[in-house]
Amino acid sequence: MKVLRGSILWVALFALVWWCGCVQVSAQPSSPQANDGLQVLVTYHSLSGHTAEMAKSVQKGAESIPGTTVLLKTVGQVTADELFGSDAVIVGSPVYWSNMSGEVKSFFDRWQFEFGVFPEWKMQNKVGAAFATGGQVSSGKEVTMLTILAAMLGNKMIVVSDGGAFGASATTEGDSPGINDVERSSARALGKRVAEVAWMVKKGQALSGQP
Ligand SMILES: Cc1cc2nc3c(=O)[nH]c(=O)nc-3n(C[C@H](O)[C@H](O)[C@H](O)COP(=O)(O)O)c2cc1C
Repeated sequence: MKVLRGSILWVALFALVWWCGCVQVSAQPSSPQANDGLQVLVTYHSLSGHTAEMAKSVQKGAESIPGTTVLLKTVGQVTADELFGSDAVIVGSPVYWSNMSGEVKSFFDRWQFEFGVFPEWKMQNKVGAAFATGGQVSSGKEVTMLTILAAMLGNKMIVVSDGGAFGASATTEGDSPGINDVERSSARALGKRVAEVAWMVKKGQALSGQP
């Protein structure tokens, strides 16, 4: 009888240790899975529609990579869950006084004031990119894209470009007003490259078990 009671105790102890191990393993934060889909957020500010039109071409480019879903929204509509739930973020702005518009700057400020991005560095290792439209040929598009990329770098994001050295851009006034085919295709190239790089990062994270 004593022997039986002892054995039952040992079995119960073994079961308890095994169960604790299982609970601990399942409590680990889940690493990204390479076969999960990729989510790209394309977000922009636009009053007269040019930057919005570029955004649609950026979306098409990203969606050309299989398994990629694009969320297209104006900067004011983006929620914390949408921002932090995306693998990549592509931000577009009209040039206002040789810089990004106030709405786009406010969007970046909301990352902290409203969404609480820091101190956890919640955007770390997400892929980022920029696009811009401006009325004149050389009047701030590159500065606009660079200030967008600077905000992303400050958040430890991985920034990439295509369609131009710093991203895709369009000149919307002057001889040929609006967005032309070359500018549209530069926007598509940007979206495609962001999705490609974001997939590489995601697959690498899945392999290394890093979040
Ligand atoms: C307040 C304001 C400031 C602007 N400043 C510039 C500028 O510095 N350089 C430039 O090339 N275009 C400038 N523009 C023109 C816009 O960048 C251009 O029309 C842009 O394509 C508008 O984008 P949207 O159609 O998406 O609103 C400015 C427009 C506004 C309203």
